[in-house]
Amino acid sequence: MKLAIVGATGAVGTIMRRLAREAFPSDELVAFASERSAGKTLEDGLVVQPLRDDTIEGFDLALLSAGGGTSREWSPRFAAAGATVVDNSSAFRMDPDVPLIVSEVNGDAVAEARKGIIANPNCTTMVIMLPAKALHDAFGLKAMVCTSFQAAGGAGQKGIDELTGQVGAVGEDVDQLVNDGASAARKVEHSIHANTLAFNVVPLLGSLDDQGYTDEEMKMLNESRKILSIPELEVTPTCVRVPVVVGHSVAVRATFDQEVDLDRALEALSAFPNLVVEQAPTPLEWAGRNETVVGRVRKDLNDPHTLNFFVVGDNLLKGAALNTVQIAELVAARVATSA
Ligand code: A2P
Repeated sequence: MKLAIVGATGAVGTIMRRLAREAFPSDELVAFASERSAGKTLEDGLVVQPLRDDTIEGFDLALLSAGGGTSREWSPRFAAAGATVVDNSSAFRMDPDVPLIVSEVNGDAVAEARKGIIANPNCTTMVIMLPAKALHDAFGLKAMVCTSFQAAGGAGQKGIDELTGQVGAVGEDVDQLVNDGASAARKVEHSIHANTLAFNVVPLLGSLDDQGYTDEEMKMLNESRKILSIPELEVTPTCVRVPVVVGHSVAVRATFDQEVDLDRALEALSAFPNLVVEQAPTPLEWAGRNETVVGRVRKDLNDPHTLNFFVVGDNLLKGAALNTVQIAELVAARVATSA
């Protein structure tokens, strides 16, 4: 097989190259990025190629993580040239002819890639889907109130650089942090995050719609319904950026058709593939790990049909690169069995 990794120099693309090499050790990998990087030799020896009609020929799989604009333009071109595309942008996620897949939740949907394109979900939605599916199968999911604590790395390498570049200047004067936070916040510039992120929490990610929700929040609603095949699922989302480099966390209040039983819930969560149950997971401790982790699982104080939990996952791994490569493995397995 011949695999294209598009966005190969980015935060997700770099991990995607490593995971693709592990998953497909004897296959050919080709790295693509913007014209700016074309010709550059990456640390794994791959030389970055530019995206052109003549360079995208002959691929079996193309894994894209280079932003929505690049995906909109190049995913259909890779597909037309014969590749199955796994796209990490939001460009095709809600297209009815494009399956939106979390490998452990709805991997069978690879068979429905009618355009030759499969979409990888948003990194925050992804983290919620594993416990949501485990509990949905046990009790029938009806509604979720989801409040996210999203890492800087969700905005790519630029998001990480902006946070880490602010930490020294904002943190050096503790007295100012206590007595005049506004001046501390204004000591640094921000362009990727909606406000100074170091020593702060920013409750705005993406652009607002006329109902007051951001596009990031609407992804949580729309993508959850599609992945779980629950068209009427009620989702109340609030997305918040926190000064964490990698690892998205979400506090979830989930309401079910059936009354919930805590022991059965814990059993269902523990038995779910690639999901770990721990008392109080933190994103720092789970950065760099493949599994998603759920903790603080408890019955609601008021509603016997409702459970509260806290879920954490590495947004660059399961939230992006790992799930993309897992989908690629599902596609390769399907090709192998139909050959
Ligand atoms: P480059 O490094 O050449 O800019 P991140 O999400 O970490 O910012 O990474 C974005 C990735 O998408 C990088 O590999 C980047 O390449 C790539 N990229 C950005 N714009 C384009 C484009 N127009 N065509 C191809 N790749 C692009």
